[in-house]
Amino acid sequence: MSVSATLAANAVIAARRAAGLPVVPLGFGEAGLPVHPMLVSALASCAGSAGYGPVAGIPSLREAAAGYWTRRGLPTEPSQVVAGPGSKPLLWAILGAQGGSVALARPSWVSYAAQATMHGLDIVRLPSIGGVPDPVELDAVAQGLRLSTVIVTLPDNPTGMVTPPSVIRDLCAVAERHDLLIVSDEIYRDLSTVDFLSPASVAPHRVVVTSGLSKSLALGGWRLGVARFVDDDLRDRVLSLASEVWSAPSRPVQEAAAVAFAEPSALVERVSQSRLLHHRVASAVASLFGVPAPDGAFYLYPHVPGFATDADAASHLLSRNGIVVLTGSEFGDAPEACRIRVATSQLYGETDAQRLRALHSDNPLELPWIAAYLDLIRSALA
Ligand SMILES: Cc1ncc(COP(=O)(O)O)c(C=O)c1O
Repeated sequence: MSVSATLAANAVIAARRAAGLPVVPLGFGEAGLPVHPMLVSALASCAGSAGYGPVAGIPSLREAAAGYWTRRGLPTEPSQVVAGPGSKPLLWAILGAQGGSVALARPSWVSYAAQATMHGLDIVRLPSIGGVPDPVELDAVAQGLRLSTVIVTLPDNPTGMVTPPSVIRDLCAVAERHDLLIVSDEIYRDLSTVDFLSPASVAPHRVVVTSGLSKSLALGGWRLGVARFVDDDLRDRVLSLASEVWSAPSRPVQEAAAVAFAEPSALVERVSQSRLLHHRVASAVASLFGVPAPDGAFYLYPHVPGFATDADAASHLLSRNGIVVLTGSEFGDAPEACRIRVATSQLYGETDAQRLRALHSDNPLELPWIAAYLDLIRSALA
């Protein structure tokens, strides 16, 4: 197994920058915005909290995360919440605890397949509608393959789509018919610009939802994620894995995350400013590629014509134009489909001052450093 594709792309960016070559960083899906000062002080004031604490997370965090979901129409008790060092390890533990074969959308986020493989689980990739395997295809294969789990991503990475509510309802009906667990990765939920229906609202008893602070509040390096369980057995199996691997998430980070999940008005405002900036910049890049604006997150998944494979397209963009993207095959697509994953969240600037200007600007596309990136993309595509 190689280093996660997204991290490998980041290394290429660093190497080109060191060599003084132009780089348009469209590879790494980091949210690219500064930490809100309220969270900086919350974390600083908790530096003295150094006990391990409970495996599932401290009570104030579990209560705040329960409130976060309850406010979104998913009534949640603190006992249903498990916090972990990012939603990625939580997903790993959920897949390991559940076992059985896993259905994934093609394309889907790089780590699902890698994690299932680490656990020795079989995977099946199905044509998708956004981040959701097509329910008709799922229905057709579920019995024969002895599937136990289907993973969905809402909004989706890599396509930036939010799957329509009617498809979510169909998916839940198929999951019901075949007794499947739905793992709903909703880490980008608060960055959606369209109506959102979680499968947990439709089939509450068979859905585990994961979320975190990495995207909406740009706290990826804090490593804090949460999962919402309805099945106590599955939760307890996840806790056994967690107790033997990470013991508990970082204690000071948990204390600050409890502030974040309580959603004081300053942070609600920050998330909505971020959503708008992501949408404006992603939509501008989408129009350069000639594809529709995404529904959420900060990703596009265009087809690049004129190349035999996606790797040819990506290496041409990098070597000729300094444009870093990921290939569709890293997300499970066929190389010949010639799709690339474009992440637009690194275009806001290289310093926190630039990123804050972008966040607070009425017209971020006209800030010189963002306009320069857009020009580079425009001329490369021309
Ligand atoms: C779809 C998806 N799920 C999960 C994650 C991981 O998030 P975390 O930082 O909470 O581990 C990412 C990060 O890129 C992602 O794109």
